[in-house]
Amino acid sequence: MQIPEWRQRLVRSLGLSSDKPEANYFQLATVNSENQARNRTVVFRGFVDNTSHLTVITDKRSGKFKELCKNDTAEIAWYFAKTREQYRISARVQACCLQPASEDKTLNTHNYLVDSLWNKLSEKTKSSFFNVSPATPFSDEIHNQLNIGSDVSENFCVLVFIPNQVDYLDLNTEPHTRLISRVSPEHASRNASELPAFWTVERVVA
Ligand SMILES: Cc1cc2nc3c(=O)[nH]c(=O)nc-3n(C[C@H](O)[C@H](O)[C@H](O)COP(=O)(O)O)c2cc1C
Repeated sequence: MQIPEWRQRLVRSLGLSSDKPEANYFQLATVNSENQARNRTVVFRGFVDNTSHLTVITDKRSGKFKELCKNDTAEIAWYFAKTREQYRISARVQACCLQPASEDKTLNTHNYLVDSLWNKLSEKTKSSFFNVSPATPFSDEIHNQLNIGSDVSENFCVLVFIPNQVDYLDLNTEPHTRLISRVSPEHASRNASELPAFWTVERVVA
């Protein structure tokens, strides 16, 4: 399997910022059912094995999950302040949940991911998946609840991002370096995770 150049670059950027916890946060944009852009911060939870597929955890009851079920395209904007590099990653998204429901496009091909990422969470974070839905009107009663189930919550979900374009910008060079990596069209148009990806890179004006 070809390891895309951008993945190696991204791993390097993460390494150089390993003393900065915020380097693991990125902005995730989706499109809602009214065709409006929605954007929020999430935590990068690592790659799927040796692939270039990125993972994020979320609640199946969240807005982003519902949006991705209707439109599985997303864009990640990730800025590393220390090295002054930006990655804009366009991707298709697959959801891996404990109890996949075919109606909402949930796939279950990476079930092990669900267990391993769940087991890394703090008890407090786990508890939030057993609590009332995100965006429920706040009350003290709800706030004081600590609900812990013995197993993975059915609301817990791993989002797997399968990139098809990566727009990299390095502000440290003069002139600035902008590299656009694109996956081969056959790969982008078919079930992306089942094919090896072939990437091309082009330097463009920043
Ligand atoms: C630093 C930071 C990290 C976050 N990480 C996550 C995350 O990994 N997953 C997640 O679902 N929400 C995360 N959130 C919360 C989201 O940004 C967002 O507020 C919440 O998920 C509701 O968004 P939605 O209604 O668009 O789904 C994080 C917020 C911040 C500020």
